[in-house]
Amino acid sequence: MTDSEYLLTGDEVRDWETLMFLYNSAIKEINTKIEILRGEFQITHHYNPIEHVTWRLKSAKSIVRKLRREGHETDIASMQQYLNDIAGIRIVCSFTSDIYKIADMISNQDDIKVLIIKNYIASPKANGYKSYHMIVTVPIFLAEGPVDTKVEIQIRTIAMDFWASLEHKIYYKFEGAAPDYIKDELAACAKMINALDDRMLSLNEAIQALTGEGSAEGE
Ligand code: GTP
Ligand code: MG
Repeated sequence: MTDSEYLLTGDEVRDWETLMFLYNSAIKEINTKIEILRGEFQITHHYNPIEHVTWRLKSAKSIVRKLRREGHETDIASMQQYLNDIAGIRIVCSFTSDIYKIADMISNQDDIKVLIIKNYIASPKANGYKSYHMIVTVPIFLAEGPVDTKVEIQIRTIAMDFWASLEHKIYYKFEGAAPDYIKDELAACAKMINALDDRMLSLNEAIQALTGEGSAEGE
C-alpha cells in the first residue's frame, strides 16, 4: 500500500499528492539555501560550519497517527493547520556557536518566515535533550502563485545528535517507560555531551587564536 492509498481515495489523492509535492519542494528549497550558505562560508571564512544535513517527509501513517493522537480530523486541511513537521530538516554542525550562526543566516533571508522557535539548548528538556528547533515557511512558486510551506528545522551539534539518536532508540524500545537506571544513565551522558561540546568549542577557539583561521581544518 502506498502512502497516498493509506490516507485518501478518489479526488482527495490529488490534493494529497499536491500537498506532499509542496513539502518536498520546500525541503529542496531549504536544502539549496543551506548548500549556498555552506559555500559562502567556505569562501569568506575558509570554514565549513555544517557537518551534515538530513531530511525526511513524514509518512502518511505517522501523519494520521499524530492527528488522531491530538484529536484532529485526518484530512488535508488539518494536516496543513496542525502539523508543523511534515517536512523536516536536521542540520548537524561542529560547535554550539555554529548553531546560532546557521539559525540566524536562515531566518534573516527575506523569503523565510520564522513561525516558532524552541531553543532546547538554552532550556534543555528534562531528559537532557538539546537542540535548536525552528518552524519556518518558505514560498513555493506554483503556476497560480506562491504557497508558503512549513518546514521544521532542527539544528544541533554532532554530540547532541549522537545523544538524541540513542535516546530516541531507547524511548521507542521501552515505549516511553525505560527503567530508572537507564534514564539516569542517559541524563549522565547528556551532561558528558555538554561538557564535551564546551571543551571542543574552547579548543577550537584556542586553535583559531593561534592560527588566525576560521577553524581547525583538514578533517
Ligand atoms: P512532536 O509532536 O514530537 O513533533 O513535538 P513538538 O511539536 O512539541 O515539537 P518539539 O520541538 O518538542 O519536538 C519536535 C521534534 O524534536 C521531535 O519530533 C523529535 O524529532 C525531536 N525531539 C523533541 N524532543 C526530543 C527528545 O526528548 N528526544 C529526542 N531524541 N528527540 C526529541
Ligand atoms: Mg515531530
